[in-house]
Amino acid sequence: MDVSLDDSKLSASDLALLKEFGELWNRAEAIWDSYQQHSAFESYVSADYHAVFHALISLREQKSRFIEWGSGLGVVTIMADRLGYEAVGIEAKDLLVDFALDLADDFQSEAEFSVGSFIPDRFEWDPASGDESIRTIIDIPAGYDQLGVELRDFDLVYSYPWPTEHALYHNVMREFADPNSVLLTYDAREGLGLVHFADLGF
Ligand SMILES: C[S@@+](CC[C@H](N)C(=O)[O-])C[C@H]1O[C@@H](n2cnc3c(N)ncnc32)[C@H](O)[C@@H]1O
Repeated sequence: MDVSLDDSKLSASDLALLKEFGELWNRAEAIWDSYQQHSAFESYVSADYHAVFHALISLREQKSRFIEWGSGLGVVTIMADRLGYEAVGIEAKDLLVDFALDLADDFQSEAEFSVGSFIPDRFEWDPASGDESIRTIIDIPAGYDQLGVELRDFDLVYSYPWPTEHALYHNVMREFADPNSVLLTYDAREGLGLVHFADLGF
């Protein structure tokens, strides 16, 4: 996905938000510095928040209902909420959700979070069709019910998959997402990616 990272083109209100988000990113980094040895952080690594911020801005006119799969410290979901999306995050580790809720409070966000898996309970795991997990936690109940939502309620799904896990994420999208939705990904090697549901193939 090609997105301009040029902050000089932002509106005054988005620039003001970016300034607040800089503080949010610093808070998240300070938490990471203090807790990185804790087992709750074993699958955690943060995306390039600045790049994801610009991606959220570029999609804002077309999409409005946002869900983050594996929301970690909640930073991206909080940004999405403050940028005008209806935003929720699902995260496997309860300690991370506790931090996310505190950050949401401190940064005037109404983002909601649940503890659980972003993989729906009805998903049938099939390594033969590419369902591979390196870091994704696969043995806990889904987190959608706690939020009163289903995956098909969202038109923008964001996640940070491990490089070999894209097929798994696509399979979940193919089976449970809204046909008008898109999957925005951040990946340390590839950077930002955007997949339209219709391009996933059946
Ligand atoms: C690579 S980190 C990404 C954090 C954040 N989304 C970001 O982009 O900065 C992946 C997160 O997904 C969480 N996770 C792994 N498997 C999960 C699952 N099945 N359901 C929900 N969260 C999961 C991990 O605990 C971790 O916090």
